[in-house]
Amino acid sequence: MSPTFHLIAAARPNFMKIAPVYHAMNAADWCEPVIVHTGQHYDANMSDSFFEDLGLPTPDYNLEVGSGSHAEQTGAVMVAYEKIIMETPPDATIVVGDVNSTIACTLAAKKLCLKVAHLEAGLRSKDWDMPEEINRIVTDSISDVLWTPSPDGDQNLLKEGVAPERITRVGNVMLDSYELMRPRIEAESPREHFGLDAKGYGIVTLHRPSNVDRKETLAPLVKALKSAAARIPIVCPLHPRTRKSLETHGLLDDFLSAEGVHVSEPINYIRFMGLVREAALVITDSGGIQEETTYLNIPCITLRENTERPITITEGTNKLARIPDLPDYVGDILNGRWPAGRKPELWDGKTADRIISDLARRFG
Ligand code: UD1
Repeated sequence: MSPTFHLIAAARPNFMKIAPVYHAMNAADWCEPVIVHTGQHYDANMSDSFFEDLGLPTPDYNLEVGSGSHAEQTGAVMVAYEKIIMETPPDATIVVGDVNSTIACTLAAKKLCLKVAHLEAGLRSKDWDMPEEINRIVTDSISDVLWTPSPDGDQNLLKEGVAPERITRVGNVMLDSYELMRPRIEAESPREHFGLDAKGYGIVTLHRPSNVDRKETLAPLVKALKSAAARIPIVCPLHPRTRKSLETHGLLDDFLSAEGVHVSEPINYIRFMGLVREAALVITDSGGIQEETTYLNIPCITLRENTERPITITEGTNKLARIPDLPDYVGDILNGRWPAGRKPELWDGKTADRIISDLARRFG
């Protein structure tokens, strides 16, 4: 019997991380991938469309946990995942990223003495108010194998006392998805749907609670985005959390009707990357988009006080900003005053192959 590995899919940013590993496992032919979707993200445009775009099959298991408070969501995933692994334990569970399902599946598996590998290990924002930081630290501290994307990840783990043999630097797996899908991404120009020219628009994606939940932050943010849109049109695919909050605080209509603002539903992977590829700039608070813009050499303004991905600043095209900085930063980009980045080492589309080699070495 070939070894089986569970790949935990849960929320939108996870799907681009498991897809290359799934495809590489199938090609490797000595092990069997089993996809477990926890159902943390469940809307068609937050989940199904990504599975379709990334060539992923219907998950082998769907835990259908849905939304809830942190404890509710984390607890529901633990209970549901434990049932599966008690019946059919895998040779190892592979968790990715930093969402609630990541920590939940890690805890459930480790308490049953199963092996866990964490893909995208070692990232630290040092911001304990971020639920993702807690998820990262707990997941890394108990996982057996830690696959890091960049040297800062290794250093963070070593500083925390992790034994070096648990760490393998594999590079950035998200960019494998870009390379796998590049022909389809580049075959389309989804900006045409919005009537926009290449390099003649910005993309905005914001969903972090610290930016979008409270009116005191969201109202000035909407104002700053409107002023940016007066200089260059912006496309804003709205995350469900952000749409809900704009509605609750009575800001949605004002934003929708502003000059240069193109609002849409969340956009699937291939069309979204097609938009990013031809954009003049990106404004975001996402983790993965900081990396994708560095890879594609697109100026990125990250509306956060810190980042767990500092290499996108030191080597890439990313800068952290506060809301009042936004107009100046947009002006800098439009006037060509923005650092040109380079691709960090091992961000080369071959990360999944390195993961499979490491798996073979450790579990083959
Ligand atoms: C989660 C992750 C975050 C990641 C983000 C990407 C945690 C703690 N956070 O945050 O790290 O960057 O996903 O999107 O795991 N909702 C829908 N449909 C869906 C999914 C969510 O309507 O398919 C709604 C929920 O009801 C909820 C809100 O969106 O009101 C937030 O969803 P949730 O998964 O709890 O957190 P995110 O903010 O998406």
